[in-house]
Amino acid sequence: MQRQETIAAALPRKYPEQVVLVVTRGGDGRGNIMAVGWTGIASGDPLMFMLGIDEGAYTYELIRATRTFVVAFPSDQMGAAVLHAGAVHGRNRDKLAETGLATAPALRVAAPLLSDAVANFECELADIFQPGDCPLIFGRVLVAHVNTDPALQRLYTVGPGHAMAGVRVAGPIKTSQ
Ligand SMILES: Cc1cc2nc3c(=O)[nH]c(=O)nc-3n(C[C@H](O)[C@H](O)[C@H](O)COP(=O)(O)O)c2cc1C
Repeated sequence: MQRQETIAAALPRKYPEQVVLVVTRGGDGRGNIMAVGWTGIASGDPLMFMLGIDEGAYTYELIRATRTFVVAFPSDQMGAAVLHAGAVHGRNRDKLAETGLATAPALRVAAPLLSDAVANFECELADIFQPGDCPLIFGRVLVAHVNTDPALQRLYTVGPGHAMAGVRVAGPIKTSQ
C-alpha cells in the first residue's frame, strides 16, 4: 500500500545510492577527485556513464577543458577519501594527495586510475545535456580496469548525511534459464 508524501520526505527512501569518484587531471598536471552520487549507465554499446556534476565543481571545469576523465568505483575501504573528495573543491588544493589514495597511469586518458578502487573506467566526453538544474555529463568508456582482489566490496551511500557502507552480493544470483 502507498500513501502520498511530499517529495522531500519520500526522497531519502532512495538509499542505498551508488557513489563514484570522478578523477580528472588539469593542465598543471595535478590530479583531482570528486564524489558523485547522481550517476548511472546511459548506453550499453558503447558503454557510457551519466554523471550529474554541478557547474561550480572544479571537475566540471576540467572535464570541459580536457574532455577526458576516469570513473572509479570506490571500495568500502575508501569511505573517508570519498567524503573528503565530496566536501571540498580541488581548485586550490591537492585533494588527491590529501586523501593518500594510490594512483596508477591510465592507458588512454591523462587522469590517473585509483589503484585500490573496485574498478576504473577511462572515459571521453560524449555530450553534456541539462534538462534541469544540474548538467549531465555523458562519458564514453574507452578502457576498463578491475581490481585483482575479487572480494573487494563496493562503497555505497546508505542513508542521508552521507552515511556510507560496503555492500556485497547477498547470495548466488539465479536466473530462470
Ligand atoms: C557522497 C557524495 C555524493 C555527491 N554527489 C554529487 C553529485 O552527484 N553531483 C555533484 O555535483 N556533487 C556531488 N557531491 C558534492 C561534490 O563531490 C563536491 O561539491 C566536491 O567538492 C566537488 O569537487 P571539485 O570542485 O574538486 O570537483 C557529492 C558529495 C558526496 C560526499
